[in-house]
Amino acid sequence: MSKNTKLIAFTAVVIAVVAVVVVVVVMTVMKTKTPSDDKEIVIKFSHVTTETTPKGKGAILLKNLVDERLAGRVRVEIYPNSQLYNDKTALKALLLGDIHLAAPSLSKFSKYTKQWALFDLPFLFKNPQALNCFTNSDKGRELLNTVQNKGIKGLGYWLNGMKQISANRPLISPEDAAGLKFRIMSSDVLKAQFEALKANPQKMAFAEVYNALATNVIDGQENTWSNIRSKKFFEVQKHTTVSNHGVLEYALVTNKEFWDALPNDIRLELEKIIAQVTDKVVEFALEAAEKDQQAVVNSGKTKVHTLTHLQKQQWIDVMKPVWSQFENQVGKDNIAAVQQCNAQN
Ligand code: SIN
Repeated sequence: MSKNTKLIAFTAVVIAVVAVVVVVVVMTVMKTKTPSDDKEIVIKFSHVTTETTPKGKGAILLKNLVDERLAGRVRVEIYPNSQLYNDKTALKALLLGDIHLAAPSLSKFSKYTKQWALFDLPFLFKNPQALNCFTNSDKGRELLNTVQNKGIKGLGYWLNGMKQISANRPLISPEDAAGLKFRIMSSDVLKAQFEALKANPQKMAFAEVYNALATNVIDGQENTWSNIRSKKFFEVQKHTTVSNHGVLEYALVTNKEFWDALPNDIRLELEKIIAQVTDKVVEFALEAAEKDQQAVVNSGKTKVHTLTHLQKQQWIDVMKPVWSQFENQVGKDNIAAVQQCNAQN
């Protein structure tokens, strides 16, 4: 082989090696590049309450903080008031990737975890502070993860507060509820609770409750002051009892696969934002419980009854035996952890 031929062959090999290296580098860059690196990520948040409720305000704050801290990279679109989905269909949509955030009541997750039924046990939580104490405890955090194997990631608990009971007749003693049809969320504990009262529980989507009350399809309902006020249930219920017999707590949830696929820095920033909003939702909820109760009382459209200690004890005596049906399902250790929180609050 002449000197020239050798040089040409050597140059060809060098060019080929450089070309291969360039191709490999370009391919690696293209492979690790996710759409989210150059396209704004849109997070659709669907929920069922109005924008004036603790959850509604929490969603707006979340959106605003994302606009501030992840501008151009992430945008949150909020669909409140069952505009897109009710809670049941929202969870299906979340799993299909059609929406990315939802915050249904824990009572609505029975298809995904049996343990969250804990939160529906009547008279389990003494007050919202005890509820917060539990959700912030190790046991509470463990419970939030029990939906993971269903493809759902719990991002945090959002507080609403204590539930009150209403009907078109005064509900002073538990016997007053007997024979009445009450709307409930889709929870077997809530079903058992109303059966203990010898009443007829009817599972129904939140968006349908007002009409069902107005047309006497149902006789009564249970909910928090913010929902009773914002959905105008008080306008179609002659009597409301300050029963504080149960709690309404939400799980802010996302699709696990979607969440895990987010770029790390974005996911970490979103987690920080969510922690900040979660604390603020507690404030919104405590404020709403007072203000909305007062507004309902002031409206004069429903008579608000406060129970004496003895009257309240009668409700406890009738409803609390429901616990024994569910204590294995929800975990006696979890009940004990809530009781510890009750003792501290
Ligand atoms: C909600 O607060 O999200 C609605 C709860 C309900 O269905 O009563």
